[in-house]
Amino acid sequence: MQPTTEPDPFEEFNRAMGAGRIQDPYPNLAERRREAPVSPADIRALMGLAADADLGDFGDMPPVFTAYSFEAVQQCLRDGETFSSSGYAPVMGEVFGHSILEMDEPEHHHYRSLIQQAFSRKAMERWESDVVGPVVDAHIDEFVDEGRADLVRQLTFPFPVTVIGHMLGLPYDDLAQFHRWAVELISVSIDYEKAVRASKLLYDYFKGIIDERRVAPAEDLISVLALAELHEGGERHRLNDDEIIAFLRLLLPAGAETTYRSSSNLLTGLLTHPDQLDAVRADRSLLPQAIEEALRWEAPLLLIQRLATRDTELCGVAIPEGAVVAVAVGSANHDETRWDRPDEFDIFREPQQHLAFAFGPHMCLGMHLARMETTVVMNRVFDRLPEVRVDPDAPPPHITGMTFRSPPTLPVVWG
Ligand code: HEM
Repeated sequence: MQPTTEPDPFEEFNRAMGAGRIQDPYPNLAERRREAPVSPADIRALMGLAADADLGDFGDMPPVFTAYSFEAVQQCLRDGETFSSSGYAPVMGEVFGHSILEMDEPEHHHYRSLIQQAFSRKAMERWESDVVGPVVDAHIDEFVDEGRADLVRQLTFPFPVTVIGHMLGLPYDDLAQFHRWAVELISVSIDYEKAVRASKLLYDYFKGIIDERRVAPAEDLISVLALAELHEGGERHRLNDDEIIAFLRLLLPAGAETTYRSSSNLLTGLLTHPDQLDAVRADRSLLPQAIEEALRWEAPLLLIQRLATRDTELCGVAIPEGAVVAVAVGSANHDETRWDRPDEFDIFREPQQHLAFAFGPHMCLGMHLARMETTVVMNRVFDRLPEVRVDPDAPPPHITGMTFRSPPTLPVVWG
């Protein structure tokens, strides 16, 4: 069975996230940054209510602030003690389980270090030749003779989930189902019931595989986790099923949804800027800077979240204990005090750190994998789809979405 190319939950998720409609949040974010690096969100204004309207149940909601500037976002993400990740627990934790995403130090460090090795730059060499290259080739094989394709549907959407499935050692035939559950899982804010159901189904599915790996370990990530020993307060213990499954549930949405979007965004940037496309095609040493520029220009994930653990200050703005901080990494990446013409895609910029992978203790665990996957997919596209260009008979591609951003389709022709 092939990975699905009819991802209904995916479409639903995309629609709910605002994909399809052409949306550009960047002018509005620029205006917010001009006003202040950090500002309180006006719940009444967000809900379209009058300034003195009674908020009813929403009156009990914690205050919400948004960090817009590069400095504010970096400062917030660097200080995990003041700006905790535990705010993910009430919603995301319900479906992922207690994963590293919602842990604070020192617990976070204990768990993250168990798996860090498997995602190191060094480890990527093996995954590249054994898994990513063959997976990308297999997807391209299916359409290469046709002379045209939708690169989102046929390549960037399905390949990262196939890669993770292989890294976990899952049977190929399970991948389509696995991807559907993963999309349902992250659609938790749209359909809670469905997300909880997917979470339970994934639990049972993974439980069976973990039991097998405990008896007969293989060369995959589930075996690494099944055998890993946690050292905490002088004690050592094997990870239990809940701990392993929380990690596995997180990995799929964290790794597949984001990488598919970042590869699609880079392709969009290049295909809509043919001079830059030609430059990279002719000189592949430009690829790393093109990948970073696409991540800066259109971060797949615009917004993450933290919770203030004490009264504090962020870029001069007082934040009370208990406040939610919406951390706009996409806005930070367009901070005009750091980048000229920030809304433009330009692979020839001076390289500077961006925040698409976040920063600090929770900085993306899979960033080397994501960069390697994107490198492989771009090289294969250049090598196997000669003179690839936007399909002149289709509407021009556009990146859309308010939290998750990528193009819904990417019709191209070649040859
Ligand atoms: C371009 C692709 C990617 C982007 C833009 C991205 C972005 C991010 C961001 C912003 C965070 C921080 C979330 C937070 O603290 O609130 C994060 C964390 C994480 N990412 Fe990625 N990610 C990408 C690819 C991947 C891949 C391929 C994997 C693994 C297969 C992965 C696994 C993780 C994990 C496990 C965490 C949690 C780390 C922790 O809490 O310590 N990501 N990612």
